[in-house]
Amino acid sequence: MFKTKTDIDFKETVNFIKGVFNTDEYVPLHPPCFDEKEKEMVCECIDSTFVSSVGKNVTAFEESIAKFCGVKRAVACVNGTNALHLALKLNGVKEGDKVITQPLTFIATANAIKYCNAEPVFVDVDKDTMGLSPKKLNDYLKEHQDIKAVVPMHTFGHPCRIDEIKTVCDKYGVALVEDCAESLGSFYKGKHTGNWAEGSAISFNGNKIITTGGGGMLLFNDEKLADYAKHLTTQAKIPHRWEFRHSESGYNYRMPNLNASLGLAQFSKLERFLANKRELAAIYREFFGERFVDEPEFAKSNFWLQAILLDNRAQRDEFLTYTNDNGVMTRPAWCLMNELEMFKNCEHGDLSNAKWIEERLVNIPSGVRVI
Ligand SMILES: Cc1ncc(COP(=O)(O)O)c(C=O)c1O
Repeated sequence: MFKTKTDIDFKETVNFIKGVFNTDEYVPLHPPCFDEKEKEMVCECIDSTFVSSVGKNVTAFEESIAKFCGVKRAVACVNGTNALHLALKLNGVKEGDKVITQPLTFIATANAIKYCNAEPVFVDVDKDTMGLSPKKLNDYLKEHQDIKAVVPMHTFGHPCRIDEIKTVCDKYGVALVEDCAESLGSFYKGKHTGNWAEGSAISFNGNKIITTGGGGMLLFNDEKLADYAKHLTTQAKIPHRWEFRHSESGYNYRMPNLNASLGLAQFSKLERFLANKRELAAIYREFFGERFVDEPEFAKSNFWLQAILLDNRAQRDEFLTYTNDNGVMTRPAWCLMNELEMFKNCEHGDLSNAKWIEERLVNIPSGVRVI
């Protein structure tokens, strides 16, 4: 999967991508895809006046996502970052704890750990999945007995080796939280991502496979924990017709009904979006050959953000400059978390795979094609 070849014609690539999206205009990375359905459902919600914390669409959206992901319950949140924060809290992460995650991730993963006043610890990814390496995790946990939890991330929608990671976590008695922000619609050995942990977090940010504008969702198979999560997202208010009594300091993390309305409209198209993105992957696979970052053989990816590999950082940067100068939006992987100022003193193991990927990977336009 990660063998590279040297020939890539930047001009031909730009023309090819514009052709794939059937346009001479600017091609964005991953714009949301709406039609009349979204307008209808959002307007209906506005007409009902139930745009905020009360309304039936939040429950309907939660039930739809839970069924699709094959979990017992789903709890909607304001965004994926606070969903992750809550998941860590529900898994017992507190001040002073150490939590392992991968350095190749969006900063929200590490920030959620910080919100618990805990410290991120960075362990490397596998080159083929770009997600946390179970082998390197095992090696790290063997040497370090003070880790509270582990947060793998399914990078760009490609599932990591989550069952092996779960086995390692169980072996060392460490909690597991799946960052599924990017992996709605991605399956590992036939099971939807998020099924290996309690409180797996999905994002519905505007750039995700389906969007609620801003939004997130927690997945649970433990119904009691789901009830508690719901309670915490609603300021820990004890249900009562008029009284305001709260059992503890909760959060205002509940998704508004207006966002859930948009989410329901988007959800009705999820299968279509997945098929459309899989078709795009096939087109890219054929054009880019071995440069194309494909799904792991044991997984079915949602192909959220498609990616290719350049030969080295210099070629990557040339490619980024050329494509962005010529109307095709591309972007590199995130700067590694351990290289950011606020995380540079965090503990970490050998991160050579993450570095190898960061130096070479470029995301290319991945939106749903309406042609
Ligand atoms: C890996 C990862 N984790 C967490 C998040 C946070 O989600 P949100 O933007 O909905 O807060 C995102 C994306 O936005 C993400 O890509």
